[in-house]
Amino acid sequence: MSDRPQPDFVTGNVELATRTTLALPGRAALYAEITAAAQLAQLAGSGGPRRFVLGGGSNLVLSGDFDGLLLHMAIAGRQLVAEDDDAWYVRAGAGENWHQLVGWTLAQGWPGLENLALIPGTVGAAPIQNIGAYGLEIADRLLSLEACDMQSGKMLHFDRAACRFAYRDSVFKQQSWHLDGSRVITHVTLRLPKAWQPLTSYPDLAAEFDQQQITHPNARQIAAAVIQVRRRKLPDPAVLPNAGSFFHNPLVDTETGERLARRFPGLPRYPQGDGRVKLAAGWLIEQCGWKGRNLGRVGMYEKQALVLVNRGGASGTEVIALATAVQTDVRARFGIELTPEPVFL
Ligand code: EPU
Repeated sequence: MSDRPQPDFVTGNVELATRTTLALPGRAALYAEITAAAQLAQLAGSGGPRRFVLGGGSNLVLSGDFDGLLLHMAIAGRQLVAEDDDAWYVRAGAGENWHQLVGWTLAQGWPGLENLALIPGTVGAAPIQNIGAYGLEIADRLLSLEACDMQSGKMLHFDRAACRFAYRDSVFKQQSWHLDGSRVITHVTLRLPKAWQPLTSYPDLAAEFDQQQITHPNARQIAAAVIQVRRRKLPDPAVLPNAGSFFHNPLVDTETGERLARRFPGLPRYPQGDGRVKLAAGWLIEQCGWKGRNLGRVGMYEKQALVLVNRGGASGTEVIALATAVQTDVRARFGIELTPEPVFL
């Protein structure tokens, strides 16, 4: 650590369990709540403590104490910044709650984010792992984002192409900026097309509308259905701490997909149109007997085997032990490597 004095908004020794949805124990040696981009410019430069950027803490596995500076993103604000014949353009601060932003846009009469309702976390974190659910990803709606370069303190502008989005991936992950805090997202601008198209083909959603006998749902009805499906399958972190899907759905080539399907007839497969096939990690994990099974104080959730849950008082070490056991079993049975989705600190 350098001797450079820290600005007065930097405090020390802050506990992190309540700031992350998996509720694992850990403390940060230094902590700053960032409510304006100008604070980042003040902290920029080299030679200081190691940095890590925290949003809603919903995609984070703490393996203990963090000896660096934790930047807790709390930049607020959301507004319609432009409108033309084709779209509404909404800009939001990185610290805004994602689900609240979705609800606000719908209440304003600007559809387009409804399939991403109830995803935990913040606006600034959403593009990093390209959040996605029920047939939509933020990549489909993102126009641009602003980020602070923590070397120079200058603001950078990323258009959609510069974000290099892929399934649960972006340039922020590809370059490990989400780990070293060298580029920090401050604002995100979304483009919500006026030519709105409902996305209702995802099986869980289609079943929901079938059951409710709704043939042409509007955006608010889609959001309501998404919320229902999520509440049914995914545990509420406030009740049962978790970080959502714990592994990526693996992508394999068509031939591997076909070979596995011959051996395992029920295997769900989703062709990606690029010669690759996405497999359902939850299904693979369930087949290995992990659905609803615990190891120590952690387990794989009984209604969705892809979600790792903290049954109470677990440590990061227990999470890693369970994740490793699941990976080992899936590898032995299917020859598939599962990659964790959350970030490990
Ligand atoms: N499945 C099982 N057993 C399980 C879980 C799933 O057999 O225990 C099967 C399901 O029956 C289905 C398939 O696996 O045939 C896919 O399951 P589901 O529709 O529940 O979605 P998922 O692939 O497990 C992904 C995302 C979720 C997102 C949903 C809906 C990833 C890693 N996860 O889950 O995202 O909400 O699709 O679009 O891509 C997250 O990233 O945290 C997250 C919750």
